[in-house]
Amino acid sequence: MTDHKERIIIFDTTLRDGEQSPGCSMNLEEKLRMARLLDRMGVDVIEAGFPVASQGDFEAVQKVAETVENAAVAGLCRAKKSDIEASAEALKSAKRPRIHTFISTSPLHMKYKLQMSPETVLDAIAESVSHARNFSDDVEWSAEDGSRTEDDFLCQAVETAIKAGATTINIPDTVGYAIPDEYAAKIALLFDRVPNIDKAVISVHCHNDLGLAVANSLAGVRAGARQIECTINGIGERAGNAALEEIVMILRTRHDLLPFDTDIDATLITKASRRLSTITGFNVQPNKAIVGANAFAHESGIHQDGMLKNAETYEIMTPESVGRKQSRLVLGKHSGRHAFVKKLEELGYELGDNALQDAFKRFKDLADRKKEVFDEDLVALVDDETGRDHERIKFVSLQIQAGSTGPQVAMLELGVDGEAKQAETEGNGPVDAIFLAIREIVPHDEAQLLLYQVHAVTGGTDAQAEVTVKLEENAKTVFGQSADVDVMVASCRAYIHALNKLLIKRERPARDVTP
Ligand code: KIV
Ligand code: ZN
Repeated sequence: MTDHKERIIIFDTTLRDGEQSPGCSMNLEEKLRMARLLDRMGVDVIEAGFPVASQGDFEAVQKVAETVENAAVAGLCRAKKSDIEASAEALKSAKRPRIHTFISTSPLHMKYKLQMSPETVLDAIAESVSHARNFSDDVEWSAEDGSRTEDDFLCQAVETAIKAGATTINIPDTVGYAIPDEYAAKIALLFDRVPNIDKAVISVHCHNDLGLAVANSLAGVRAGARQIECTINGIGERAGNAALEEIVMILRTRHDLLPFDTDIDATLITKASRRLSTITGFNVQPNKAIVGANAFAHESGIHQDGMLKNAETYEIMTPESVGRKQSRLVLGKHSGRHAFVKKLEELGYELGDNALQDAFKRFKDLADRKKEVFDEDLVALVDDETGRDHERIKFVSLQIQAGSTGPQVAMLELGVDGEAKQAETEGNGPVDAIFLAIREIVPHDEAQLLLYQVHAVTGGTDAQAEVTVKLEENAKTVFGQSADVDVMVASCRAYIHALNKLLIKRERPARDVTP
């Protein structure tokens, strides 16, 4: 543990604000996989959901609370007794429950969204925070649209929340409108003018609409904030939240100017980024800082030459420091189960017996078809396998007839709720034929395919293709992903992955409340 004064509390909201991004919804099993990894990484607080929003959210917060060993677990709630009680109930088995309640404080939000007077908002703050304190000593209060709140009223609201028992005060830049100096001044103002400010930790929560979420968060820290709310890969409402990986690596790399520490194990960053992308099907852009595919690639001759002479010429942090390993040959078709398990452990995976069995079988198939099996191949293979046990639609087999003389035909067999079903369809190309075959077996006329994307996991003509598919039905979007050396099989599996998620979404009632 680092010295408290210089220590930044990392509050991860990937499972709440992050999950609110279009297409980023996660099922219970997926949220648990992410939560376990965040806990292992050393995140201080995991915001697991918004329990009153839906039964699914309630259960997710409940299960995350049961599972997480070290981090505090937070449940979001509006300034309403029923919301607070739902959060308290969902967090019952958490070792360290945190109730996070919020209300808007800007003139615009109070007038149009809440239709409440500033006085009534102050009453609601006092009541909600003191009600939350009946259930937990750890209560966070957020001033929604805080960055656009008038100074005097923000100070009054913060003082009221602390007086009522809030132990963390969060000042969100909800619409990503602030610029760093302005946001820092808002935080500094609280330290100057709120008499009981020393009784709470001040937190920043910045959205990225103008690309300033990380810069604003750090400006807030320099002004005295000691908690940063952020998400893996920066996912979140609209343009997203501040990216956890960027915050952590900036604090490490520029410790000379920003002498603050976190307890995050940065070597798990790549794994967390990769796991989230696989779960959500939401890939990060190649030039994304820290976790993008090109973040450590040196292409130009001058740069490569400099790197060979001294890596520090062009490298401000090493790929290894964020858990990136160079591609290297790891296993081949003669590798046994023991070596496979050992390699997975090295890559940070612990699989249960069934998942391990399936993963090993797929590894053997892969090694038969691909001469060199790299770490990236194994990661893609295992991520593809994990958490799909309970899916209703399962891939069984696929035969394709394709080529320049046509017609292109897909012969597909799926298991649907345990029953084998077949279809043979013609399409405009093999991918079209496959997707039509899936539609014939599992009709979903209202769903539209919004994205079909392929990229190679490694180099070489025998590389695995990683396919991402995005479907939309009644304004709900889902992503599916899969990897295979056969691009048609990967396409089929990715579509099935998305469709399984759509089936879950249909069963879940829509969120009828949003922050
Ligand atoms: O952006 C925001 O204002 C929020 C709050 C609910 C914390 O996410
Ligand atoms: Zn937010």
